[in-house]
Amino acid sequence: MRYSKIVGLGHHVPETVITNDYLSSIIDTNNEWIVERTGIQERRWVDPTKDTVANMAAKASRMALERAGLTEKDVEFIVFATITPDYFFPGSGVLLQRELGLESIGALDLRNACSGFIYALSVADQFIKTGMYKTILVVGAEIQSTAIDLSTRGRNTAVIFADGAGAAILQPSDKPGILSTHLHSDGRFAEELYVRDPGSSRPREERQPEQINDTTHYKVVMNGNQVFKHAVVRFMEVIKEALATNNMTKEDISLLVPHQANLRISQYIQEKMALTNDQVYNNIMRYGNTTAASIPIAMSEAWAEGKMKENDVICLAAFGSGFTWASALIRW
Ligand code: ACO
Repeated sequence: MRYSKIVGLGHHVPETVITNDYLSSIIDTNNEWIVERTGIQERRWVDPTKDTVANMAAKASRMALERAGLTEKDVEFIVFATITPDYFFPGSGVLLQRELGLESIGALDLRNACSGFIYALSVADQFIKTGMYKTILVVGAEIQSTAIDLSTRGRNTAVIFADGAGAAILQPSDKPGILSTHLHSDGRFAEELYVRDPGSSRPREERQPEQINDTTHYKVVMNGNQVFKHAVVRFMEVIKEALATNNMTKEDISLLVPHQANLRISQYIQEKMALTNDQVYNNIMRYGNTTAASIPIAMSEAWAEGKMKENDVICLAAFGSGFTWASALIRW
């Protein structure tokens, strides 16, 4: 049996630290509200004159390749998860391919928001298992700061979302590896967390430059209560699904790396599932919610801190826009 294994992890976050106090100086918000509701203390924002989603992804990818003892030339395929591509099209996968100096390898973009990295990992896992590729670069990267609505209208999301990139390298292995992945969605709730425009569903007349309604462009609409209620249920369901599939129980989890949506969501799951502090990794306090980048950034840091050791059982879980939710169980 051929399995896939993560052989390298990397991440990159922009240099500029945006504290809650700084945000409070430009939006009608305050440190207490942000910390109490989200757990976030600071986040990173890009310098848009220097950083792009693709070049941040390239930095994360190079770190992952170096840690794996590989070079760019070893990469045979790219799976890129982002909801904030550098261009409306093409996707950022091809831009990353160009940044890495790779000539004609395939590059696939996925748009599954906060679940994007696990979806991407699952796709790469299938390609490795079938023998189609031997080295796949899986990336999650986002620049959200350039579209953040810094008016009072946008403050419920402006304080949460941030920038960063994370990467993982997958290769075949004769023992697991990625044990299983579980992908779900429920489109009935698409509009509970979404960006309406620029979307193709508007009639042509409304899409002409002079008609564009700026109040919907890039504006994240989030029904926070609904997201919270669904997130806690689906996170737990999909973690339990991964454990049941592999005949494991919560005691078998060495480390749960949840999508860093909101510290309150992670804490709720930890409490309801009775997981110990050592079993759950969070870094949202320092980076905010970086959507598809949050899990690979957290994994990369957890690995560097020695929290993911050989034979450990690592559980990844995510929930986000769509709604989509997903998990992966990995034998490290
Ligand atoms: N600073 C200060 N006040 C604010 C801010 C802010 N940044 N944002 C909203 N408020 C105000 C509102 O205007 C409202 O004021 P009012 O009572 O005078 O009307 C008050 O705070 C409460 O607003 P709610 O939206 O009801 O705030 P709530 O307590 O629900 O907290 C939050 C909002 C944190 C988003 C919460 O709903 C939540 O945790 N939801 C889960 C969604 C989530 O975490 N999403 C993350 C991204 S999605 C993902 O990754 C899955």
